[in-house]
Amino acid sequence: MYILGIETSCDETSAAIIEGKFNNKNVNLLSNIISSSINFHAKTGGIIPENAARQQIKYIIPVINNALKKPNLNFDDIDAIAVTIGPGLIGSLLVGVETAKTLSYVLNKPIIPVNHLIGHIYANFINSKIKNQNSKLNADIQFPALALIVSGGHTDLVLIKKHGSIKWLGGTRDDAAGEALDKIGRILNLPYPGGPAIEKASKDGNASHFTLPRPMIGSHDFDFSFSGLKTAVLREVKAMNKLDNKITADFSASVQQSIIDVLVKKTMNAALKYKVESILLAGGVSANEALRKKFLVQCLKFNINFFAPSKYLCTDNAAMIASAAFFNYKPTPWQKITVNPELYF
Ligand code: KG4
Ligand code: ZN
Repeated sequence: MYILGIETSCDETSAAIIEGKFNNKNVNLLSNIISSSINFHAKTGGIIPENAARQQIKYIIPVINNALKKPNLNFDDIDAIAVTIGPGLIGSLLVGVETAKTLSYVLNKPIIPVNHLIGHIYANFINSKIKNQNSKLNADIQFPALALIVSGGHTDLVLIKKHGSIKWLGGTRDDAAGEALDKIGRILNLPYPGGPAIEKASKDGNASHFTLPRPMIGSHDFDFSFSGLKTAVLREVKAMNKLDNKITADFSASVQQSIIDVLVKKTMNAALKYKVESILLAGGVSANEALRKKFLVQCLKFNINFFAPSKYLCTDNAAMIASAAFFNYKPTPWQKITVNPELYF
């Protein structure tokens, strides 16, 4: 079946077509069109929700048309529509959800509401050559699996027993990992978004130059906290006369290492406790190369399969939403679908 995915929860406007076949462990990606207003938000150092929604209204129809055009399909060929209903910015979510509902009504096609966070996890179920990160290349994901979702708004650990059966184990008590990176990026005068900018600056930095905290690394739960790390960086930066390239690089490397150490330690603790077969990374921060490398080393050590989406599927995209809908196929009458900015697990 062909599913049209629509994603507009934050600053991206995306539409994608996936092909799913009964009993297949992964879906095929036919198109994934993303129009990002990230450069627009770089000017303000962050997202202004009203501006994001206005951009999305402009782009939603062309983006859907392009998603269909690439695999040479038209609306008649589509079997179902999948759309992100939350969490996210209300104005942005409404653009995607109302578009999807209108299409569903006019075309008489089923519509599947998708939780954005679960969508991130399902980026791992899209066919791609570099899916499995360790030796069993292209092996399928085995359950039970543990997913670490690290995005701009969330840091959560969830246990997946099978498709549709997800148990939340823990999450951040304050800032998400991506949020901390974005805020620290601003403190260091790096461009928005901070995550990729810090990754780039880290390459010339010394990760042990600054001694930064590893918040909650030893706690016996699966919760996280990153706001103290941001405060620690702010305090150190304020104590300096000025930032030069070397100091910025050292701060970046030290911050990145601190976040990675906590994420990997907590995830491996959960993986061993619940004896999982696979670990799945998800969300924008999972594009981080140093994070992937550290996970790979740990997963090889404990003989756990490690999966991370192709980098272009780590940040927000509609392909992951369509993929989540295929494996959790629950059509809902369009009249019953509403956005939920606070949606969680
Ligand atoms: O999943 P996502 O695209 O949007 C949300 O749902 O929040 O994640 C965006 C986050 C931002 O905080 C961004 O700084 C971070 O992902 N990010 C990265 C990298 N690429 C994006 N963080 C670290 N390293 C990267 N390469
Ligand atoms: Zn996201």
